[in-house]
Amino acid sequence: MLNRLKVVPKTSDTSPNGTSSTPNGKGNPADLGTFVVHGRPIIVEHLNAWYGKHLSIKDVSMTIQPNQVTALIGPSGCGKSTFLRTLNRMHELIPGARVEGSVLFGDQNIYATNVDPVATRRHIGMVFQRPNPFPTMSIFDNVVAGLRLMGIRDRVKLEAVAERSLTQAALWQEVKDRLRSSPLSLSGGQQQRLCIARALAVEPEVILMDEPASALDPISTQQIEDTITELKQVYTVVVVTHNMQQAARISDFTGFFLIQRHGDPGQLWEFGPTAKMFSTPQREETERYITGRFG
Ligand SMILES: Nc1ncnc2c1ncn2[C@@H]1O[C@H](COP(=O)(O)OP(=O)(O)O)[C@@H](O)[C@H]1O
Ligand SMILES: [Mg+2]
Repeated sequence: MLNRLKVVPKTSDTSPNGTSSTPNGKGNPADLGTFVVHGRPIIVEHLNAWYGKHLSIKDVSMTIQPNQVTALIGPSGCGKSTFLRTLNRMHELIPGARVEGSVLFGDQNIYATNVDPVATRRHIGMVFQRPNPFPTMSIFDNVVAGLRLMGIRDRVKLEAVAERSLTQAALWQEVKDRLRSSPLSLSGGQQQRLCIARALAVEPEVILMDEPASALDPISTQQIEDTITELKQVYTVVVVTHNMQQAARISDFTGFFLIQRHGDPGQLWEFGPTAKMFSTPQREETERYITGRFG
Protein backbone atom coordinates (compact mmCIF):
# COMPACT_ATOMS: atom_id res chain seq x y z
CA MET A 1 0.00 0.00 0.00
CA LEU A 2 2.85 2.31 0.84
CA ASN A 3 4.22 2.44 -2.69
CA ARG A 4 1.15 4.30 -3.90
CA LEU A 5 2.61 7.31 -2.12
CA LYS A 6 6.24 6.32 -2.34
CA VAL A 7 6.75 7.50 -5.88
CA VAL A 8 5.03 10.82 -5.45
CA PRO A 9 7.52 13.62 -4.99
CA LYS A 10 6.19 17.07 -4.26
CA THR A 11 6.82 19.28 -7.23
CA SER A 12 7.30 22.44 -5.24
CA ASP A 13 7.55 23.78 -1.75
CA THR A 14 4.14 25.23 -1.12
CA SER A 15 4.61 26.50 2.41
CA PRO A 16 3.60 30.13 2.79
CA ASN A 17 6.59 31.07 4.89
CA GLY A 18 9.03 29.28 2.66
CA THR A 19 10.20 26.58 5.04
CA SER A 20 12.14 23.94 3.21
CA SER A 21 11.70 20.21 3.37
CA THR A 22 13.03 18.64 6.52
CA PRO A 23 12.65 15.09 7.75
CA ASN A 24 10.20 14.85 10.58
CA GLY A 25 12.31 12.33 12.40
CA LYS A 26 9.60 9.66 12.43
CA GLY A 27 10.35 6.26 10.99
CA ASN A 28 12.87 5.66 8.26
CA PRO A 29 12.91 8.41 5.63
CA ALA A 30 13.89 5.79 3.07
CA ASP A 31 10.38 4.36 3.45
CA LEU A 32 9.08 7.43 1.68
CA GLY A 33 11.39 7.12 -1.31
CA THR A 34 12.25 10.49 -2.79
CA PHE A 35 9.57 12.24 -0.83
CA VAL A 36 10.60 13.99 2.34
CA VAL A 37 7.85 14.77 4.78
CA HIS A 38 7.87 18.30 6.10
CA GLY A 39 4.71 18.76 8.03
CA ARG A 40 4.16 21.59 10.46
CA PRO A 41 2.01 21.39 13.56
CA ILE A 42 -1.12 23.50 13.91
CA ILE A 43 -1.13 25.13 17.33
CA VAL A 44 -4.51 26.48 18.36
CA GLU A 45 -4.50 28.89 21.28
CA HIS A 46 -7.51 30.25 23.18
CA LEU A 47 -9.78 30.11 20.18
CA ASN A 48 -13.32 31.47 20.37
CA ALA A 49 -15.65 31.33 17.38
CA TRP A 50 -18.80 33.40 17.06
CA TYR A 51 -21.87 33.48 14.84
CA GLY A 52 -23.05 37.04 15.36
CA LYS A 53 -23.65 37.32 19.10
CA HIS A 54 -23.67 33.57 19.62
CA LEU A 55 -20.42 32.18 21.05
CA SER A 56 -20.20 28.75 19.44
CA ILE A 57 -16.88 27.43 20.74
CA LYS A 58 -14.98 28.77 23.71
CA ASP A 59 -11.30 28.87 24.60
CA VAL A 60 -10.12 25.92 22.55
CA SER A 61 -6.39 25.16 22.71
CA MET A 62 -4.95 22.13 20.96
CA THR A 63 -1.84 21.11 19.05
CA ILE A 64 -2.44 19.14 15.88
CA GLN A 65 0.60 17.02 15.13
CA PRO A 66 1.92 16.84 11.56
CA ASN A 67 1.55 13.59 9.64
CA GLN A 68 -0.90 12.25 12.16
CA VAL A 69 -4.66 11.79 12.06
CA THR A 70 -6.52 13.85 14.64
CA ALA A 71 -10.17 12.91 15.17
CA LEU A 72 -12.74 15.31 16.57
CA ILE A 73 -15.68 13.69 18.32
CA GLY A 74 -18.59 14.83 20.45
CA PRO A 75 -22.36 15.23 20.43
CA SER A 76 -24.11 17.05 17.61
CA GLY A 77 -24.02 20.83 17.88
CA CYS A 78 -20.95 21.06 20.12
CA GLY A 79 -18.90 22.94 17.55
CA LYS A 80 -16.83 20.31 15.74
CA SER A 81 -17.59 21.63 12.26
CA THR A 82 -17.20 25.21 13.44
CA PHE A 83 -13.79 24.41 14.91
CA LEU A 84 -12.71 22.65 11.71
CA ARG A 85 -13.65 25.69 9.64
CA THR A 86 -11.59 27.98 11.88
CA LEU A 87 -8.49 25.97 10.97
CA ASN A 88 -8.44 27.23 7.37
CA ARG A 89 -10.35 30.49 7.67
CA MET A 90 -13.56 29.14 6.20
CA HIS A 91 -15.54 30.11 9.30
CA GLU A 92 -15.35 33.79 8.40
CA LEU A 93 -17.04 33.11 5.04
CA ILE A 94 -20.33 32.89 6.95
CA PRO A 95 -21.87 36.37 7.30
CA GLY A 96 -21.44 37.68 10.85
CA ALA A 97 -19.04 34.91 11.83
CA ARG A 98 -15.74 35.74 13.50
CA VAL A 99 -12.85 34.26 15.42
CA GLU A 100 -10.74 35.31 18.41
CA GLY A 101 -7.48 33.68 19.44
CA SER A 102 -4.73 32.30 17.28
CA VAL A 103 -4.08 29.40 14.96
CA LEU A 104 -0.36 28.95 14.37
CA PHE A 105 0.55 26.92 11.32
CA GLY A 106 4.19 26.27 12.12
CA ASP A 107 5.20 29.74 13.22
CA GLN A 108 2.68 31.60 11.07
CA ASN A 109 -0.56 32.81 12.67
CA ILE A 110 -3.12 32.25 9.92
CA TYR A 111 -5.20 35.07 11.43
CA ALA A 112 -2.37 37.61 11.16
CA THR A 113 -3.42 40.62 9.09
CA ASN A 114 -0.88 39.96 6.34
CA VAL A 115 -2.07 36.39 5.68
CA ASP A 116 -4.14 35.71 2.58
CA PRO A 117 -7.10 33.49 3.52
CA VAL A 118 -7.24 32.02 0.01
CA ALA A 119 -3.61 30.91 0.24
CA THR A 120 -4.31 29.48 3.69
CA ARG A 121 -7.13 27.38 2.26
CA ARG A 122 -4.78 26.04 -0.38
CA HIS A 123 -2.31 24.87 2.25
CA ILE A 124 -5.07 23.59 4.52
CA GLY A 125 -7.71 21.97 2.32
CA MET A 126 -11.21 20.77 3.19
CA VAL A 127 -13.40 17.80 2.32
CA PHE A 128 -17.08 18.08 3.25
CA GLN A 129 -19.68 15.72 4.64
CA ARG A 130 -21.58 15.27 1.38
CA PRO A 131 -19.55 14.66 -1.76
CA ASN A 132 -19.77 17.90 -3.74
CA PRO A 133 -18.12 17.39 -7.14
CA PHE A 134 -18.75 20.16 -9.66
CA PRO A 135 -21.61 18.50 -11.57
CA THR A 136 -21.06 20.12 -14.97
CA MET A 137 -17.34 19.32 -15.11
CA SER A 138 -15.75 16.01 -16.06
CA ILE A 139 -13.94 13.84 -13.51
CA PHE A 140 -10.61 15.14 -14.83
CA ASP A 141 -11.69 18.77 -14.76
CA ASN A 142 -12.93 18.36 -11.19
CA VAL A 143 -9.53 17.18 -10.02
CA VAL A 144 -7.58 19.97 -11.71
CA ALA A 145 -10.10 22.76 -11.06
CA GLY A 146 -7.97 24.30 -8.31
CA LEU A 147 -4.84 24.25 -10.45
CA ARG A 148 -6.65 25.94 -13.31
CA LEU A 149 -7.80 28.63 -10.88
CA MET A 150 -4.13 29.13 -10.05
CA GLY A 151 -3.48 29.73 -13.75
CA ILE A 152 -1.85 26.40 -14.58
CA ARG A 153 -2.67 25.45 -18.18
CA ASP A 154 0.13 23.02 -19.06
CA ARG A 155 -1.64 19.85 -20.17
CA VAL A 156 1.20 17.53 -19.22
CA LYS A 157 1.39 19.02 -15.74
CA LEU A 158 -2.39 18.84 -15.28
CA GLU A 159 -2.46 15.20 -16.37
CA ALA A 160 0.40 14.32 -14.03
CA VAL A 161 -1.30 16.01 -11.09
CA ALA A 162 -4.64 14.34 -11.89
CA GLU A 163 -3.02 10.91 -11.89
CA ARG A 164 -1.06 11.59 -8.72
CA SER A 165 -4.08 12.97 -6.84
CA LEU A 166 -6.47 10.26 -7.97
CA THR A 167 -3.89 7.63 -7.03
CA GLN A 168 -3.45 9.12 -3.57
CA ALA A 169 -7.22 9.15 -3.17
CA ALA A 170 -7.31 5.47 -4.20
CA LEU A 171 -9.57 6.20 -7.18
CA TRP A 172 -7.21 6.14 -10.17
CA GLN A 173 -7.76 2.51 -11.13
CA GLU A 174 -11.53 2.97 -11.12
CA VAL A 175 -11.63 6.14 -13.24
CA LYS A 176 -8.52 6.17 -15.42
CA ASP A 177 -10.51 5.02 -18.47
CA ARG A 178 -13.38 7.43 -17.93
CA LEU A 179 -11.75 10.72 -16.99
CA ARG A 180 -14.02 12.61 -19.41
CA SER A 181 -17.20 11.23 -17.82
CA SER A 182 -19.43 13.14 -15.49
CA PRO A 183 -18.66 12.77 -11.78
CA LEU A 184 -22.38 12.06 -11.36
CA SER A 185 -21.75 8.68 -13.01
CA LEU A 186 -19.71 7.70 -9.93
CA SER A 187 -21.00 6.11 -6.73
CA GLY A 188 -21.23 8.24 -3.59
CA GLY A 189 -18.02 6.74 -2.24
CA GLN A 190 -16.20 7.34 -5.51
CA GLN A 191 -17.49 10.92 -5.59
CA GLN A 192 -16.10 11.47 -2.10
CA ARG A 193 -12.71 10.09 -3.13
CA LEU A 194 -12.88 12.40 -6.16
CA CYS A 195 -13.40 15.31 -3.76
CA ILE A 196 -10.39 14.11 -1.75
CA ALA A 197 -8.36 13.99 -4.99
CA ARG A 198 -9.53 17.52 -5.83
CA ALA A 199 -8.37 18.71 -2.41
CA LEU A 200 -4.99 16.97 -2.82
CA ALA A 201 -4.36 18.35 -6.32
CA VAL A 202 -3.26 21.76 -5.05
CA GLU A 203 -0.66 20.12 -2.79
CA PRO A 204 -1.94 21.12 0.62
CA GLU A 205 -0.10 20.15 3.78
CA VAL A 206 -3.24 19.57 5.79
CA ILE A 207 -6.60 18.02 4.89
CA LEU A 208 -9.63 18.82 7.03
CA MET A 209 -12.51 16.35 6.67
CA ASP A 210 -15.96 16.91 8.12
CA GLU A 211 -17.64 13.52 8.60
CA PRO A 212 -16.35 12.41 5.17
CA ALA A 213 -17.93 8.96 5.36
CA SER A 214 -21.19 9.69 7.15
CA ALA A 215 -23.22 9.67 3.92
CA LEU A 216 -21.60 6.46 2.64
CA ASP A 217 -22.24 2.73 2.78
CA PRO A 218 -19.93 0.47 4.87
CA ILE A 219 -17.67 -0.56 1.98
CA SER A 220 -17.15 3.01 0.82
CA THR A 221 -16.58 4.01 4.45
CA GLN A 222 -13.88 1.38 4.72
CA GLN A 223 -12.23 2.72 1.56
CA ILE A 224 -12.26 6.27 2.90
CA GLU A 225 -10.75 5.06 6.18
CA ASP A 226 -7.99 3.21 4.30
CA THR A 227 -7.34 6.31 2.23
CA ILE A 228 -7.04 8.49 5.36
CA THR A 229 -4.58 6.05 6.89
CA GLU A 230 -2.39 6.26 3.79
CA LEU A 231 -2.67 10.02 3.46
CA LYS A 232 -1.04 10.70 6.80
CA GLN A 233 2.30 9.57 5.44
CA VAL A 234 2.34 12.76 3.43
CA TYR A 235 -0.39 14.96 4.90
CA THR A 236 -1.72 16.02 8.26
CA VAL A 237 -5.35 14.95 8.59
CA VAL A 238 -8.04 16.34 10.89
CA VAL A 239 -11.30 14.42 10.69
CA VAL A 240 -14.64 15.02 12.37
CA THR A 241 -16.54 11.83 12.97
CA HIS A 242 -19.62 10.85 14.93
CA ASN A 243 -18.47 7.25 14.74
CA MET A 244 -16.44 6.36 17.81
CA GLN A 245 -15.15 3.10 16.34
CA GLN A 246 -13.96 5.03 13.32
CA ALA A 247 -12.10 7.53 15.51
CA ALA A 248 -10.49 4.65 17.40
CA ARG A 249 -9.52 2.87 14.17
CA ILE A 250 -8.04 5.69 12.15
CA SER A 251 -6.78 8.41 14.49
CA ASP A 252 -3.62 8.99 16.48
CA PHE A 253 -5.08 11.82 18.57
CA THR A 254 -8.65 12.52 19.59
CA GLY A 255 -10.34 15.72 20.73
CA PHE A 256 -13.66 15.39 22.54
CA PHE A 257 -15.92 18.44 22.29
CA LEU A 258 -18.79 19.00 24.67
CA ILE A 259 -21.48 21.52 25.57
CA GLN A 260 -21.78 21.41 29.32
CA ARG A 261 -25.23 22.97 29.65
CA HIS A 262 -27.82 23.86 27.03
CA GLY A 263 -27.00 27.27 25.57
CA ASP A 264 -23.33 27.13 26.57
CA PRO A 265 -20.60 27.23 23.93
CA GLY A 266 -18.82 24.04 22.93
CA GLN A 267 -15.51 23.35 24.65
CA LEU A 268 -12.65 20.99 24.07
CA TRP A 269 -13.36 18.72 27.00
CA GLU A 270 -10.47 16.30 26.60
CA PHE A 271 -7.65 15.86 24.13
CA GLY A 272 -4.91 13.27 23.89
CA PRO A 273 -3.56 10.18 22.17
CA THR A 274 -6.45 8.11 20.86
CA ALA A 275 -5.30 4.89 22.54
CA LYS A 276 -5.21 6.62 25.92
CA MET A 277 -8.48 8.47 25.40
CA PHE A 278 -10.32 5.27 24.58
CA SER A 279 -8.69 3.14 27.30
CA THR A 280 -8.31 5.56 30.20
CA PRO A 281 -10.26 8.76 29.59
CA GLN A 282 -9.45 11.41 32.18
CA ARG A 283 -12.92 12.91 32.51
CA GLU A 284 -16.20 11.29 33.38
CA GLU A 285 -18.11 12.88 30.48
CA THR A 286 -15.55 11.54 28.01
CA GLU A 287 -15.96 8.05 29.35
CA ARG A 288 -19.74 8.30 29.23
CA TYR A 289 -19.62 9.55 25.65
CA ILE A 290 -17.18 6.99 24.28
CA THR A 291 -19.05 4.15 25.93
CA GLY A 292 -22.20 5.35 24.20
CA ARG A 293 -24.10 6.52 27.25
CA PHE A 294 -25.02 9.88 25.74
CA GLY A 295 -24.77 11.86 22.52
N1 LIG B 1 -23.86 28.87 9.70
C1 LIG B 1 -24.21 28.99 10.99
N2 LIG B 1 -24.87 30.09 11.43
C2 LIG B 1 -25.23 30.21 12.73
N3 LIG B 1 -24.99 29.30 13.67
C3 LIG B 1 -24.34 28.17 13.30
C4 LIG B 1 -23.93 27.96 11.95
N4 LIG B 1 -23.30 26.75 11.87
C5 LIG B 1 -23.35 26.24 13.13
N5 LIG B 1 -23.96 27.09 13.98
C6 LIG B 1 -24.17 26.87 15.42
O1 LIG B 1 -22.93 26.63 16.06
C7 LIG B 1 -23.08 25.57 17.01
C8 LIG B 1 -22.11 24.46 16.66
O2 LIG B 1 -22.50 23.87 15.43
P1 LIG B 1 -21.56 22.88 14.61
O3 LIG B 1 -20.18 23.45 14.56
O4 LIG B 1 -22.22 22.61 13.33
O5 LIG B 1 -21.56 21.60 15.56
P2 LIG B 1 -21.22 20.06 15.22
O6 LIG B 1 -20.45 20.03 13.97
O7 LIG B 1 -20.46 19.59 16.42
O8 LIG B 1 -22.53 19.34 15.11
C9 LIG B 1 -24.54 25.15 16.98
O9 LIG B 1 -25.20 25.84 18.00
C10 LIG B 1 -25.00 25.61 15.62
O10 LIG B 1 -26.36 25.92 15.65
MG1 LIG C 1 -20.83 19.09 12.16
